[in-house]
Amino acid sequence: MKRHRWVLVLAAAAVVAGGPPPLAAQPAASGPARIKIDPDRVIGEVHPHVFGNFAEHLGRCIYGGIFEEGSPLADADGFRRDVMEAARGLGVTLLRWPGGNFASGYNWKDGIGPRDQRPVRRDHAWDAIESNRFGTDEFLRYAERLGVEPYLCINAGLGSVEDARNWVEYTNEAGNTYWAQQRRKNGRDRPWGVKVWGLGNEIDGPWQLGHKNAEDYAKFALEAAKAMRRADGSIKLIASGSSNFGPGADWVGWNRTVLDRLRSEIDYISLHTYIGNREGNLEKFLAVARDLDDRIEVVKGQIQAVRVGNPKARPIHIAFDEWNVWYRTIAPGMTESEIAATGLEEKYDFADALAMGMFLNSFIRHADVVKMANLAQLVNVIAPIFTNKDGLYLQTIYFPIAEYAKQRGHQSLDVLVESPQYKPDEGRPLGYLDVSATYDPKARQVFLNVLNRSEKTDITARIENAAGAPSGPVNVWELNHADLKATHTFGKDSVVRPATRSTSVKASGNGFEYTFPKHSLTILKW
Ligand code: AHR
Repeated sequence: MKRHRWVLVLAAAAVVAGGPPPLAAQPAASGPARIKIDPDRVIGEVHPHVFGNFAEHLGRCIYGGIFEEGSPLADADGFRRDVMEAARGLGVTLLRWPGGNFASGYNWKDGIGPRDQRPVRRDHAWDAIESNRFGTDEFLRYAERLGVEPYLCINAGLGSVEDARNWVEYTNEAGNTYWAQQRRKNGRDRPWGVKVWGLGNEIDGPWQLGHKNAEDYAKFALEAAKAMRRADGSIKLIASGSSNFGPGADWVGWNRTVLDRLRSEIDYISLHTYIGNREGNLEKFLAVARDLDDRIEVVKGQIQAVRVGNPKARPIHIAFDEWNVWYRTIAPGMTESEIAATGLEEKYDFADALAMGMFLNSFIRHADVVKMANLAQLVNVIAPIFTNKDGLYLQTIYFPIAEYAKQRGHQSLDVLVESPQYKPDEGRPLGYLDVSATYDPKARQVFLNVLNRSEKTDITARIENAAGAPSGPVNVWELNHADLKATHTFGKDSVVRPATRSTSVKASGNGFEYTFPKHSLTILKW
């Protein structure tokens, strides 16, 4: 059956879904830019889980990516050592597993016990064969070895409440119960202590196995949450929020129902976003920030709406648990099987690397509500790390993510930005400069993250800090390349690399001037 699949492609939806032609981008307006920060104006802590990631049983993400039994590059557990090292360099803090769409047809009990006795199954989410050689214990051992928080997503599609509850018992029970005994038999005495659990994946999407309407999903998720919490009262739960932004999809209504029914059980609601640059129009591509900000703010308002007036209301945050650029290996009307046949092996270019800054700026600007964000995915499948059997290379998108991740734990600041504007489409104009800032109060260090979306114009900004101008040199990290389409491959992954330098600035009053080159991502630190 041909299933139409409407992954969110935000503003670029017009491109993917064949919407009206855009207005031509206008040249940069003249006039100075101004960026003003104030370390007292804190939005919230940038939670370390904003640098989360995702590994799904799909294409070569697990098999041939993080896990390759018998490979000389793998350790005794079958984990690829080179991939693990690259994941460390990326600053990954949390890993979501086993899907994705795969989760909605997955029986976790198939993936435990002696590997050679595990059943081989058909995976109907991606029309693939699943060997089940990588299962719960392998994943949790991997996460432990990598030093990241594991996040398990239950099967809320074809699965049952009981399966979900038993999974929590298998991983977290310290007593002598049946499932704890099974875990011990499989080599793990101590509970794994999995804290983060997703109540299903993209259940609002018709492409999902076991797709439900909002009411039916909320009923299932409420019972699953209740039963899972009885197995372990300390777990954190993520409701499956909107991911279907296709024509006619009521994403706001989905979230409203889910939040209303699950408000006293969940800790997060998820959002998913994939964007595309099919037209090869950089300024339009990077204008998606507008929609990203808008959607986060809509969901933030929806969360507030179910909490207002109740001082005991449970705090709920957004888990942006799938995000990335994805358009080369997907097109409207493709079936899951056709998509899977591509392996989702996107080859990222320099323009995509700039989009990483746009996503991360938006998450940081919303640090009060976005407390988790998972790049989809870690390796080979729409991923910053790309392997073959002899090694790997780092894609262009790897470098901005790794650098932003170093700012983890810092406070996000509310920044005033005045920038020359442009009109990428029929929507409201937006500034060429896309900005976020974080502050480390202990080190008294400011990080200013600036994306210049203009393809043609360098922009000079006066940067003011209410706490005073920098007293010493400013450290510059800059990602730029003359060719927006520059890509990496095996043996050639130094094409798009950041340049770093320390520069002295001429301070006047409480600020200084800095010129952000066209199509660049810059992080200033002082
Ligand atoms: O990340 C690839 C797929 O995109 C995931 O399986 C699904 O959740 C989303 O539609």
